[in-house]
Amino acid sequence: MSKRVEIYAHRGCSGEYPENTLAAFEASCEIGADGIELDVQLTKDGEVVVIHDERIDRTTNGIGFVKDFRYKQLKLFDAGSWFHPKYSRQMIPSLQDVLDLIKTSRPEMKVNIELKNDVLLYEGMEEKVLECIWRSGMADSVILSSFQFKSMGKIRELDNSIQTALLFEGIPSNIIEEARKVRANALHSEASFAISAAGKRVIDAGYPLRVFTVNQTEKLEALARSGVSALITDYPEMFLENKSVP
Ligand code: G3P
Ligand code: CA
Repeated sequence: MSKRVEIYAHRGCSGEYPENTLAAFEASCEIGADGIELDVQLTKDGEVVVIHDERIDRTTNGIGFVKDFRYKQLKLFDAGSWFHPKYSRQMIPSLQDVLDLIKTSRPEMKVNIELKNDVLLYEGMEEKVLECIWRSGMADSVILSSFQFKSMGKIRELDNSIQTALLFEGIPSNIIEEARKVRANALHSEASFAISAAGKRVIDAGYPLRVFTVNQTEKLEALARSGVSALITDYPEMFLENKSVP
């Protein structure tokens, strides 16, 4: 029988709660997700904040770039009403807030922190993210990932033991070499990669392969058979109900 596939809540339970908010992460804890995935950007005053886009327009009632606001200003925006008015009190959390929440509520849960440094190259982001993690004492629970492979190389230079993963799209044939170059521990791919010959090579080489963003439970069986370690989904509860498959 295949090993159970872990279920990670993408941006929290973002299918049912406003993404990347404490409400979404609290729900992920309550339903018993194995992990959460979240995205981080940097404010003008260097706070690591949890938000997917470089701009705040889509998920708050404000306008502009995250990098142009101080954290104190950013916290004033409503990060929940765009999803549903009942979440109007949700704000953009800091990474520190989320790590503190997980440490208190579900310390065994994995936290996949995606550094969103592939569009804007935030100077010093790696150091700041690591400072938050070290300060929270959550180093054993986190997995850092990025589409910017160099950034994971920098993390490895700064911390020899923290878990890292390369994020990529499509079916690259040289991804194991890329992972070796920056001493990454795992790979995060789309479902099509996991069921390809290149995906099999990665799994056979011993790299945990986590797959994003899977929202159809029908895909679970084939992915589990191919040996993926985890699925990252907007609807973790739906997959957790299927926990024993296959
Ligand atoms: O971490 C995987 C996935 O979250 C990457 O895509 O755009 O949802 O951050 P995106
Ligand atoms: Ca992400």
